[in-house]
Amino acid sequence: MALFMIGVGAGCSKPQGAGLAGDPASIGDPAMGKALIEKLGCGSCHVIPGILNAYGMVGPPLEHMARRQYIAGMLRNTPENMVNWLRYPQKVVPGNAMPDLGISDDDAHQIAAYLATLQ
Ligand code: HEC
Repeated sequence: MALFMIGVGAGCSKPQGAGLAGDPASIGDPAMGKALIEKLGCGSCHVIPGILNAYGMVGPPLEHMARRQYIAGMLRNTPENMVNWLRYPQKVVPGNAMPDLGISDDDAHQIAAYLATLQ
């Protein structure tokens, strides 16, 4: 029992929200990211937890994005790689169904911060 308690304690000492994708607050502002995701209409292609009307079935669901190992099966799931993917999906996987949406570096950081909250 004592060992079990130690195990649980160690698990909880991880900073909250810091998954493979990084600590959301150190990437950007998740609340701004959420607003951008709604404005840009990402939900027309993706199921995204916490986003209004995000039921799209074109791309993969973005739930658990904070804990995924890879982005689009190509890039390690780091904050820098997520920003790069969001800005230039056609450069990463030419011809895939996600268009380059002309997202600025700043906006991509806010969006990546929101995705990093999706445990
Ligand atoms: C026209 C449809 C479309 C739109 C709009 C779109 N996506 Fe995608 N998205 C896709 C497709 C298709 C893939 C899969 C690409 C691949 O794996 O090659 C994808 C992949 C992704 C991935 C990687 C998912 C994974 O499981 O690895 C993320 C993250 C993502 N999109 C976020 C966004 C965000 C945020 C927006 C809005 C700024 C957005 N997408 C807009 C179609 C779209």
